Amino acid sequence: MLVDIEKGHLLVTGGAGFMGSAFIRFVLQKTNFSGLLINLDLLTYAENIENLSSVQNDPRYRFVKGNINEKELLEQIHKEFHLDGIIHFAAETHVDRSIKNPEIFIHTNILGTYQLLEFVRAHPSIHFHHISTDEVYGSLKEEGVFTEKSPYAPNSPYSASKAASDHLVRSFGETYDLSTTLSHASNNYGPYQFPEKFIPLMILSCMEEKSLPIYGTGKNIRNWLYVEDHAEAIWNILERGKKKEVYNIGGTSELSNLDLLHSIISFYAKITGKNQEELASRITYLPDRPGHDFRYAIDGSKISHEIGWKAKHSLLEGLSKTIEWYLIHPYKKTGDYVKWIELQYAGEAT
Ligand code: TYD
Repeated sequence: MLVDIEKGHLLVTGGAGFMGSAFIRFVLQKTNFSGLLINLDLLTYAENIENLSSVQNDPRYRFVKGNINEKELLEQIHKEFHLDGIIHFAAETHVDRSIKNPEIFIHTNILGTYQLLEFVRAHPSIHFHHISTDEVYGSLKEEGVFTEKSPYAPNSPYSASKAASDHLVRSFGETYDLSTTLSHASNNYGPYQFPEKFIPLMILSCMEEKSLPIYGTGKNIRNWLYVEDHAEAIWNILERGKKKEVYNIGGTSELSNLDLLHSIISFYAKITGKNQEELASRITYLPDRPGHDFRYAIDGSKISHEIGWKAKHSLLEGLSKTIEWYLIHPYKKTGDYVKWIELQYAGEAT
């Protein structure tokens, strides 16, 4: 066991974000967990403390507003809570934003991870789990899959910043013999996701009767992982993983953006009774994203054999749950997001 998964005191960075909050909700559902989860989050644009309203009164949960780059804050947290592990979710994650403004990605993803690793170097009894992405491996053609041994070939400032942080994690593990683990997940989706990512953007655009923006031809392929399955995978790694190991976490379905959008439209129409053809007529083709990776696919055999984890949600189950959630929680409106994307490609967005 990498950390005491019953009584451990775990710092979750970026715990108010989409994946971090899913992880916190997942752990706090476990009645045999009597440890502490400390959520360190800066509450930047994509985060929302409402993501955690269901757990805010749980005695096993604490919230600290702050930056992972603040050395002294990390020391204070440790002094107060005696950490056993860090699960590092905090990151800037949106490719389009990284194309427009890479700097914050360097600052948060690379320097932030570096500060956390320095902190762990000073307190080597703390286990460090780093959440990474399959995007560090670059783009696949029609065939092939990413394994844990695939070479790094990041194509966007976002994936390059994640690749750099992965290398720091590996090097600190090797050089200072720290207890580190790292996981690369495929595209996550589910409730509470900020509507700049494909699935929530499309659901909210259906709800708000807006256009449905597809970059390029829509033939780019992604592998989709339901966020609760991802949370379980991370928990299982902490429980059964080995120090310094890397695990790829893949979802249950691989499909093109256009096929995915048609599935969303079809589920949405079925659930709401809206006209499917009218929804489909709103698909709008935009100029392609620069450096747009064609395909991501994950070989999940290592985590399946060594940890005993497999994604549980089919796309059908996951999408239905997600659409139903957005229908009753429309608090994160797309606003002018679609407009923002259009301006971005016209070079005018800030
Ligand atoms: P995204 O959710 O941004 O995740 P990532 O770029 O990390 O895979 O995008 C998923 C796919 O959907 C990607 O191929 C880009 C495409 N996409 C669109 O076609 N239209 C959109 O409005 C967005 C946000 C993404």
